[in-house]
Amino acid sequence: MYRTPTDISNRALAALTGLAARRAPVSGGGGSCVEIAAVVAALAAGLGACGGPYPQSAVHPASDMAVKLDDLFDQILWWAAGVFVVVQGILFYTLFRFREKQARRRPREFHGHTLLEIGWTLVPALILVAIAVPTIRVIFEVDRPTTDENALVVEVEARRWWWEFSYPEYDLVTANEMHIPVGRTIDVRMRSADVLHSFWVPRLGGKRDVVPGRENHIWFKADSTGVFLGQCAEFCGVAHALMGFRVIVQDPSEFQEWVGASLLDAPRPTSADGRAGAGVFATSACVGCHTVRGVATAQQGFGPDLTHFGSRLTIGAGILENNVDNLVTWLDSTQHVKPGALMPEVEMSEEQLRQLARFLLEMR
Ligand code: CUA
Repeated sequence: MYRTPTDISNRALAALTGLAARRAPVSGGGGSCVEIAAVVAALAAGLGACGGPYPQSAVHPASDMAVKLDDLFDQILWWAAGVFVVVQGILFYTLFRFREKQARRRPREFHGHTLLEIGWTLVPALILVAIAVPTIRVIFEVDRPTTDENALVVEVEARRWWWEFSYPEYDLVTANEMHIPVGRTIDVRMRSADVLHSFWVPRLGGKRDVVPGRENHIWFKADSTGVFLGQCAEFCGVAHALMGFRVIVQDPSEFQEWVGASLLDAPRPTSADGRAGAGVFATSACVGCHTVRGVATAQQGFGPDLTHFGSRLTIGAGILENNVDNLVTWLDSTQHVKPGALMPEVEMSEEQLRQLARFLLEMR
């Protein structure tokens, strides 16, 4: 289980309120060291929880671009930490060194200190230059189109509220799960079918707005295999927060296998339920929006292509794990699972829902 920021703040809050409650009846003095130690322990516990396995963390980079951004972040963090330590150090030194020792003795008055004034103007200016130079360099570096001629182009179309990924090199279309090979530059070109969205995979690179009427791009080369979580990062309507996706980084050979399998038409369902489900699919409202190659073609391409849906990890743009029970729930109460989704709930019997779910899962 992930420790969420809410858990952490709740715990710290409990520690602090516990402290305040204990303190209340004690009038003045006593136990302050214990209390300070308790607060420090609570803060340390909170900070310690920050080291959890957060899957959408930009400070655990897994691509060349993300490493550049993280390095820049580190540089700025160290400068900021240095400034903090120096400023707080001087502050505390001043507080202790010049604290009131003899009551009512007037402090010495003086005006101005040329050296100090030049110092505290010049030093921050130099620090800002030291931060600005690498920042501007990285901005230009990550903003230009990739120069890698061997880059794999992936076209992204953002829709309310899911993602379509196409691979022109292979004439292949899929949804919500972008498979890519490790170690090869990916040239992501993105468009929106409707409103403003934003493409963001924190561990693989920066954010890019997906703007209707123009093509934006981002590139990165993943340096390790695995599943990386992405999220729409620009408010785009009711289901914005449920517009997730996954980037599945594979060894080149596994990626080629996936491409090969994905290019085939949907396999024939093997079970009786699955075969019945194919019939339900082809004769219900599903085919209005969804294509399953080899079974039925969408009348209008509104919804994700479901040809190899059974091999996908999640349902509804990353909301539910892909299994029979969740699929039945999704089909039966779409608007409950993902309020605002453009997929209407279709009237079906329990049996038909289960058959449909079996059919979708058997299309691996
Ligand atoms: Cu799409 Cu937010």
